[in-house]
Amino acid sequence: MQPLTVLGMTALGGLGYCLAEARAHTLREISVPGPAAAVGVRVLHISDLHLAPWDTDRIRWVASLEKVQADLIVASGDFMAHAHAVPLVERALEPLLTTPGVFVLGSNDFYAPKFKNPFAYLGRNNARVLGAPLPTQDLKVVLASGGWLGLDNARGQLRVRGVDIEFRGTGDAHINLDDYASVAGPWSENSQLRIAVTHAPYARVLKAMTEDSPDIVLAGHTHGGQITIPFVTALTTNCDLPVKQARGLSWLPAPEKSVPLHVSAGVGTSPIFPVRLGCRPEATLITFV
Ligand SMILES: [Fe+2]
Repeated sequence: MQPLTVLGMTALGGLGYCLAEARAHTLREISVPGPAAAVGVRVLHISDLHLAPWDTDRIRWVASLEKVQADLIVASGDFMAHAHAVPLVERALEPLLTTPGVFVLGSNDFYAPKFKNPFAYLGRNNARVLGAPLPTQDLKVVLASGGWLGLDNARGQLRVRGVDIEFRGTGDAHINLDDYASVAGPWSENSQLRIAVTHAPYARVLKAMTEDSPDIVLAGHTHGGQITIPFVTALTTNCDLPVKQARGLSWLPAPEKSVPLHVSAGVGTSPIFPVRLGCRPEATLITFV
């Protein structure tokens, strides 16, 4: 066989694997130290669904997460990837919307994806190229239909399993919609679990959040880098977060004690770059211990 033929077949095989891995949805389970009152609370963290009409398997998988029976759902943005995505988001989340939940939006919930060089995704601090406006208000109506709280530059409180949980969040820092100052400051004295949520985990947001000592910070946006060098690291976080924190649990230095940061690798992918390697699409069940 000619070397070029071998090369071509290897490249096609590799591409096929990466396309398949992008559809190999996984539920990851982790434990995180939390306040005594919150021990046993189970939080389902979902992020970056990036739904488009051809994502029928992804929609089914997200809907199937109802069987997890989480106490609380935190959705950290980028639900849409298409002008007609709102009914798709509704179908995917319908079984989950009656569970107590909170959400923030990502840049892809405001603007449709716009084609560019797919490999630009792997660049550091890859700037967002904004496409046509999306039906953001319609999306918010669906997300709030069962009682989920919107946390874009907002605070909120929910009582879950007898635990008073306080939340604060920001708009997406990737398109400069973050205004942490508007939610900063002391937490309520009666809150027993304090959760901060943002879409893109930029350093300025994480620093401001950790100065107020939440019990955990939850974020998405990175997709875990989508492509990782096996056993080494992701190539990008698509923001100024170090690549070693591209997905999963890490710790942020804070005045009193370090704060856990959980970054979801996301359920979907960039529609412009729909492949994954060494970084399966995920939702995460976080149990406080
Ligand atoms: Fe995303």
